[in-house]
Amino acid sequence: MFESAPVNPPDSIFGLMEEFRNDSNPEKINLTVGMYQDDSGKTPVMECVRDAKSRIHEAGKSHVYLPIDGLGNFNDLIPGLIFGESHVVLNDHRAYSAQTPGGTSALRVAGEMLRAKFNVKTIWVSQPTWANHLNIFPAAGLNLQHYHYLDETGTAFDLEGCLESISNAENGDAILLHTVCHNPTGVDPTTDQWKQIFAAIETKRMVPIFDFAYQGFGESVPQDSWPIRTYCDGNADALVCSSFSKNFNLYGERVGAITVVGPNSDDAKAVLSQCKAVIRTIYSNPPTFGAAIVDTVFRDNELKEIWLKELETIRLRICELRKQFVAEMKKRLPDMSFDHILHQRGMFSYSGIQGEAADRLKVEHSVYLLRSGRINIAGMNATNLERLCDAIASVMTVKS
Ligand code: LMR
Repeated sequence: MFESAPVNPPDSIFGLMEEFRNDSNPEKINLTVGMYQDDSGKTPVMECVRDAKSRIHEAGKSHVYLPIDGLGNFNDLIPGLIFGESHVVLNDHRAYSAQTPGGTSALRVAGEMLRAKFNVKTIWVSQPTWANHLNIFPAAGLNLQHYHYLDETGTAFDLEGCLESISNAENGDAILLHTVCHNPTGVDPTTDQWKQIFAAIETKRMVPIFDFAYQGFGESVPQDSWPIRTYCDGNADALVCSSFSKNFNLYGERVGAITVVGPNSDDAKAVLSQCKAVIRTIYSNPPTFGAAIVDTVFRDNELKEIWLKELETIRLRICELRKQFVAEMKKRLPDMSFDHILHQRGMFSYSGIQGEAADRLKVEHSVYLLRSGRINIAGMNATNLERLCDAIASVMTVKS
């Protein structure tokens, strides 16, 4: 049987990271996977995480299974992290969470649960979207449809196009919304545009899945959940898929959560029980360590304060890198504007350096970015910025 299996092409994001790892050039630059790197090019362990880890080790707990929905303490905290101190959803006990291995599993559980339990057939995702959305939802048995996202400049949100796409949806379809720091473009709708999107979704009675992988990278931890809070002010049903990979630098620990928002407490709990049925068949129950770290930080006011400050420092550093990059590119290519990068948010930018130019950067300069033009701004630093900009300027000017 196995002799006829074709080799699957490498993943468009992780495959490139693999190529980067195998590149022997000591000056190679990695702008591929969305992982934060500090000025020395390392992904640091946050101070709050280091402290939480030693507390967990001191407690010396044994390695028993967690329940299907993970660590109860952790789950109790997630609705508050999304909705803040007080919100109608919290007051009415209409949100319940289950810990998942990263945001990816939360998305898969969300998709599979909607198909299996509510007979949802189709999910709408932005065009473009995170490459793995295109794998996850079909794997969960859903058909994909795409809604317009960028206008003809390729750098700004296309509200008209987005609303037009939604008007073509069937009643009851699902829609994937990037809560903040859209991946791959870094382009987010304004608050007014969000309201119009929500009105269109309501008209079609669509079920939103909020992908929430970048809480804290847009404006702040409380502010970044604004779209979810606003949508759930007037609407009953929503799913939120949180990730703590980025905002805790806990990538390899796989910490995430799915949160069900329902019309009342009993219905929300019932839907969560359906998520648990799906979870049991995929990974049975999630791993302990990463969620224990996040839980330890959230339960200690001092550690939580440290976390918020560290996250703010990361966010501001990325904004600063955006400015430096644009200024350096202006010096090299004064006729080409990179100003859109200043307005994009989060780790990623759609740089406009695509396809062949991206290939040449890799082959000629050991600079790795996605062929779509997505760059991880957090892969830039004081040491590599000038070399990076020189390399980009050379492939953007010299036609091959
Ligand atoms: C990314 O988009 O680079 C990250 O979310 C990592 C991944 O899983 O693709």
